[in-house]
Amino acid sequence: MERRTVLKIIGIGLGGAAVLGAGGLGTYYATARRDTVGAVDLDSPLVIPPLAESTVDAAGARVFALGLQAGETAFKDGPATRTWGVNGSYLGPTIRARRGERVRLAVHNGLDQETSLHWHGMHLPAAMDGGPHQPVTPGATWEPTWTVDQRAATLWYHPHVHGATADHTYRGLTGLFIVDDETDTPNLPSTYGVDDVPMIVQDRAFDGNNQFAERIPLAGSLGVIGDEILVNGTLGPYFDVTTGLVRLRLLNASNARLYNFGFSDDRRFALIATDGGLLAEPWETDRLYLSPGERAEIVVAFEPGETVDLRSYPSEFGGASGRLDGFDDRLDICRFRAADTLADDAAFPTEIPGALADAPDLAGAAVAAERTFVLASDQINGRSMAMDRIDFGVREGTVEVWEVTNDNGFLHNFHVHDVQFQVLTVDGAEPEPHLRGWKDTVLLVQGRRYRLAMRFTDHTDPNVPYMYHCHLLQHEDDGMMGQFVVLAEGEQVGTISAAHTHS
Ligand code: C2O
Ligand code: CU
Ligand code: CU
Repeated sequence: MERRTVLKIIGIGLGGAAVLGAGGLGTYYATARRDTVGAVDLDSPLVIPPLAESTVDAAGARVFALGLQAGETAFKDGPATRTWGVNGSYLGPTIRARRGERVRLAVHNGLDQETSLHWHGMHLPAAMDGGPHQPVTPGATWEPTWTVDQRAATLWYHPHVHGATADHTYRGLTGLFIVDDETDTPNLPSTYGVDDVPMIVQDRAFDGNNQFAERIPLAGSLGVIGDEILVNGTLGPYFDVTTGLVRLRLLNASNARLYNFGFSDDRRFALIATDGGLLAEPWETDRLYLSPGERAEIVVAFEPGETVDLRSYPSEFGGASGRLDGFDDRLDICRFRAADTLADDAAFPTEIPGALADAPDLAGAAVAAERTFVLASDQINGRSMAMDRIDFGVREGTVEVWEVTNDNGFLHNFHVHDVQFQVLTVDGAEPEPHLRGWKDTVLLVQGRRYRLAMRFTDHTDPNVPYMYHCHLLQHEDDGMMGQFVVLAEGEQVGTISAAHTHS
């Protein structure tokens, strides 16, 4: 029996476990592994999210209008799915801005409930961050503005309203935010939608009526795990390759699922960038993990006329309820169909430069403070997120080292707002190559100690906090989150205004 059939019969969550009894649970476990390889028709052209249009205001800021709206999306035959989107029914446009540019995002909430839009990975003032303290009420337009000041990187946006981030993100309010940097551009594939291809990867569960099901695996620990994969909102996608090299900007925009990306022929590919931008040099591999919220840019080489599939392979990091949470799954993601003749044109690079960018430089920095964070039981350091509690303040202009550990049997990761960090060590050793670039979200393998170095540069505000949290969205909603402020010299941690602590 297929897993989703089983789930439909037995219903949702732990209540179901009590009904099933131990014998039924055993059967459930035995059938809980999902393998879609060869079972998905990869025959829908991959949708490329449009680039967001913009205007320039009187002050010279580039203005993007983003309308949050409810709609219907036809993912498959039969009834359309009720979804949310940004300037459309599902997902949103790709925003692009250059380093040094002033931007203003006009976020209009056309939904019937309060939500927010957070710029994940962006360095910006906390009041512009779109976290739980910047809710946008129905009918209102929120207009954060800031100057983009960070390296070229693939960032993204999604809702971050307290207690409902998982639900609102699952409905589809997600898009990419690409930062370009003209002073820092090695010759890489960069023609959007041609040899530079965004891939927003999401798992979804559909009910019998084609609606998104918020089905939580029986005894699962991570929240919703879907059994069908959307890329840029396309179910069963293929992409027509027309160039010898293609750069994929992979975003794990799933609520909870961990992907172990690789190709059907186990070909090698080059990892060129992580969350915060380019690595110092490309790293060749045949597998790549991405936990929720993480991004990776990879470059893949294709031969004329060939077909190869991107998949997710089983993972070794499942922990206590791994199989129930999808860690044993093997999933088809997207087919790549190379044309019989590939472009031979200077616009499309055919070689990956050996040197890409400066390596992170915080290993030798003077450390102003060290902090430890232990993630367990929907809490960080034994405390649940409280909207009115600022957990600590950091000092502008200093480098801190945060030591983070996942201390229970389930998957967690760790995301910090405002900064990109450098993973100094994992269990005392130099991190693996895929963790040697700038990161804002890191997978926490259970029991390992991650030492993260980060520099807090500007945007001080004693009263408006940034978040740090597990990016498995149900965990975040359940309280695995905390708040910090960036303080100017001599400043003290302030208080969060009552107007913003209601939810
Ligand atoms: Cu993707 Cu707190 O965010
Ligand atoms: Cu974020
Ligand atoms: Cu978690």
